[in-house]
Amino acid sequence: IKLAEKELLLRWANYHLQEAGCPKINNFSSDIKDSKAYYGLLNQVSPKGDEDGVPPIAIDMSGLREKDDLKRAELMLDQADRLGCRQFVMPPDVVRGNPKLNLAFVANLFNKYPALKKPENQDIDWSSFEGETREERTFRNWMNSLGVNPRVNHLYADIDDALVIFQLYEQIKVPVNWDKVNKPPYAKLGSKMKKLENCNYAVELGKKEAKFSLVGIAGQDLHEGNKTLTLALLWQLMRRYTLNILEDLGDGQKVTDDTIVTWVNGSLTEAGKPTISSFKDQSISSSLPVLDLIDAIRPGSIRYDLLKTDDLTEEEKLNNAKYAISMARKIGARVYALPEDLVEVKPKMVMTVFACLMARGFKN
Ligand SMILES: *[C@@H]1O[C@H](CO)[C@@H](O)[C@H](O)[C@H]1NC(C)=O
Ligand SMILES: *[C@@H]1O[C@H](CO)[C@@H](O)[C@H](O)[C@H]1NC(C)=O
Ligand SMILES: *[C@@H]1O[C@H](CO)[C@@H](O)[C@H](O)[C@H]1NC(C)=O
Repeated sequence: IKLAEKELLLRWANYHLQEAGCPKINNFSSDIKDSKAYYGLLNQVSPKGDEDGVPPIAIDMSGLREKDDLKRAELMLDQADRLGCRQFVMPPDVVRGNPKLNLAFVANLFNKYPALKKPENQDIDWSSFEGETREERTFRNWMNSLGVNPRVNHLYADIDDALVIFQLYEQIKVPVNWDKVNKPPYAKLGSKMKKLENCNYAVELGKKEAKFSLVGIAGQDLHEGNKTLTLALLWQLMRRYTLNILEDLGDGQKVTDDTIVTWVNGSLTEAGKPTISSFKDQSISSSLPVLDLIDAIRPGSIRYDLLKTDDLTEEEKLNNAKYAISMARKIGARVYALPEDLVEVKPKMVMTVFACLMARGFKN
């Protein structure tokens, strides 16, 4: 789960290729052009009829004898089609080795036919392998949108040496003394110590320089990825970042939640739209206040004729929220909250949406 998507899929494909006695691959471009690895993979993951009710699908491997790459690719995709997995690629995409399309093809195959078994008789806590939460995805979105290096694929594992945290501090204008920071590559021996030292320094900066509330948080909690405590630090970083953007635009004036609500109310009133009482206002669940605000900032941008405004089902709320976030981005607001945050009226995330819109509004 720490691997980037591409590495994960390569590892999965190679596991099956090895089981099939086929050569391994290093990429989804040159190495899959002749369709032979794909044949091996399809043959390996296709249903064998040993599961309840799933009929077997035997892959016809005769296409391997075809001499022409393009025709072989077509025959291979015919077999993928029998598994319902022909999407994303045409024979020329396989033969040219288009990496993005082939990655999508393999990802789809993986989702539909993982063909993996949980190891037996092992004491593994499977709950720790659950997918990331929405909150974690939001933080990763935010960090990666700022271009941190390395890119964060797994929230906790990829910040266990605090290097990404230091970059985030710089984004909120907390000076980092890079001479005090241990940098990779870390020697095998003592790497834990080096990373821990970084984490201790990161917590110290948060307490002394950023003036965050970090009661009971130690470097070790970051290094070991204690979820609650790591998220507490990240939340304060993200919040400060958002408020800083506003302060930059408002000539350094202090910005609080109230400042934002007042600005939102003012803009909505000016445009003749209903106001909000706070970031907990249940009317936000429909995303209409957000859409109204976008329309106030860029008049005529919202297609109200396409919107459902009364008696919304959960699905209609989600549709409105997706539309609101995509329109916010379209008018240039760097929104990183997720649609679900609006539907469920998560006050913290709602605040960031309005703050980003306010930052955009200031530029008018
Ligand atoms: C893919 O991997 C092979 C080695 O398995 C290498 O020869 C080839 O250059 C790689 N192709 C790309 C596009 O990276
Ligand atoms: C994380 O830290 C909190 C607060 O100190 C603690 O209650 C919790 O048990 C820790 N979680 C783990 C997984 O260590
Ligand atoms: C925003 O408007 C609501 C309703 O009109 C009002 O109750 C609230 O006090 C206003 N909030 C601010 C901060 O202006």
